Amino acid sequence: MPVDLTTTFSGHTFRNPFMNASGVHCMTIQELEELDNSSAGCLITKSATSSERAGNPEPRYVAVPLGSINSMGLPNAGIDYYMKYALDRQANKADSEPIFLSVAGMSVEENLKLLRKVQDSAFNGITELNLSCPNVPGKPQVAYDFETTKIILTKAFEFFDKPLGVKLPPFFDFAHFDAMAEILNQFPLTYVNCINSVGNGLYIDVEKESVVIKPKNGFGGLGGEYVKPTALANVRAFYTRLNPSIKVIGTGGIKTGRDAFEHLLCGATMLQVGTQLHEEGVSIFERLTKELQEVMAEKGYSTIDDFRGKLNSL
Ligand code: SIN
Repeated sequence: MPVDLTTTFSGHTFRNPFMNASGVHCMTIQELEELDNSSAGCLITKSATSSERAGNPEPRYVAVPLGSINSMGLPNAGIDYYMKYALDRQANKADSEPIFLSVAGMSVEENLKLLRKVQDSAFNGITELNLSCPNVPGKPQVAYDFETTKIILTKAFEFFDKPLGVKLPPFFDFAHFDAMAEILNQFPLTYVNCINSVGNGLYIDVEKESVVIKPKNGFGGLGGEYVKPTALANVRAFYTRLNPSIKVIGTGGIKTGRDAFEHLLCGATMLQVGTQLHEEGVSIFERLTKELQEVMAEKGYSTIDDFRGKLNSL
């Protein structure tokens, strides 16, 4: 039976639901073009700040047995660089589906300034506001502050009318799922992306009796297998709480087609891959699409809509 992975999101049809997670393989135009020429359905840029940032000292990303730990500190080439890439791509590949542009300000004002810049540009893609970077010393993850999140979204939607989503940190309590969903449901968001890394983990090298990354005395965001159950829980929690017009992007622990199937079963529409993309490079997208098609064929599903969100309870 033919298996169709095409995915409609924000009015566009992507050939499959897979894309990179912001932060992985998307810092330079060369990396972005490699993604664009891969089997990924779409791509997202590295979260941009107003100006270029060097980020935290190295080592700041380490692959560990069940995933990764990082404290990159938002190194990026600045919004103008990513905006130029997006606008050039729009001009040169007018028939292609649009891309996602990620922005992450260091303050309410900077977030609004970045969104204003996107609004005032000719960018015709989807914007992701990253409210969840755990790695900038002295700057807590914005979305753990519900009041500030509401203030940013209120001010943003006073002028922003292009498709907008937010990248969320993981939540761990039903009271927090409820409270955040209640805020998000007040806004015309296109999507929420669950989850960013599980912030401020600590990985230890026993031989050296040492941490493995330099910034923040070794504390960093966890990705990979460590985080899949938390990611699935957040996808499910928001899929079942948000207005159906707000889609969920599933990010966290996608290593195989079965992992992708689990995210979709929980209700995700698009899927982002971080740690395992870092390990395998862009050829991962060919493998993942093939494996997801195999799982769907085994189960007799011909489209993702046949099973999206239909997770059984006991
Ligand atoms: C980083 O640059 O520190 C990672 C970005 C993020 O987790 O949002």
